[in-house]
Amino acid sequence: MMRFQAFIGILLVFLSVWPGTLTGGGGSQLSSTGFELASGASTSLNVQAPWSGRFWGRTQCSTDSSGKFSCTTGDCGSGKTACNGAGAIPPALLVELTLATNGGQDFYDVSLVDGFNLPIMLAPQGGYGDCNSTSCASNVNTVCPPKLSVKGSDGSVIGCKSACMALNQPQYCCTGAYGSPDTCPPTNYSKIFKNQCPQAYSYAYDDKSSTFTCFGGPNYAITFCP
Ligand SMILES: *[C@@H]1O[C@H](CO)[C@@H](O)[C@H](O)[C@H]1NC(C)=O
Ligand SMILES: *[C@@H]1O[C@H](CO)[C@@H](O)[C@H](O)[C@H]1NC(C)=O
Repeated sequence: MMRFQAFIGILLVFLSVWPGTLTGGGGSQLSSTGFELASGASTSLNVQAPWSGRFWGRTQCSTDSSGKFSCTTGDCGSGKTACNGAGAIPPALLVELTLATNGGQDFYDVSLVDGFNLPIMLAPQGGYGDCNSTSCASNVNTVCPPKLSVKGSDGSVIGCKSACMALNQPQYCCTGAYGSPDTCPPTNYSKIFKNQCPQAYSYAYDDKSSTFTCFGGPNYAITFCP
């Protein structure tokens, strides 16, 4: 059977979240690259396979007196609700999806490589093969080490940077002598992420247990703050 589209359902519980989307690999952007979801709301996006890209959540967004839109976490810097080809400014938890044509093998993961802002779950609906759901469902902000923390105006931790971003050292960024999976083991910082979110990528060369697959062109549901 031909597979033309994947349906991405998005649900959330809690405060408003402004999801952002970014198509990778030079493909065209989705019909929506950013929008508001009120508490409890859901929406769907049609995605034409083949497709590769990412989704994330933005929090505490507002428009200032000059009409510029921005968010406290996950902002894409576009100045508008739509991200229009811009990605999330870290720290932001990412959902990464690569969708195959013709019912082939899809790959997907939840990644802490660019840090954390809010919990997300990703669940295939239908399809065949493993098709496991994956998530980073716990609030990593509550255990974020001070050196990695991003604080809001009230002093609470609203985001957690990756060690690579915060400390910019080769052992955390997997660069230089640490530039391969064999030479870049988990660190004390990445282990904090992995303990909280065992299914998510905790650093660039995390083991393959964080990549999930599904065949048959399922739909995917993304839930913020599951
Ligand atoms: C998927 O879930 C099943 C059942 O919980 C588990 O046995 C299997 O190892 C999981 N597969 C992956 C790739 O995580
Ligand atoms: C991680 O290890 C480094 C180097 O030994 C140390 O400076 C840092 O405090 C440790 N961080 C945590 C959160 O354990």
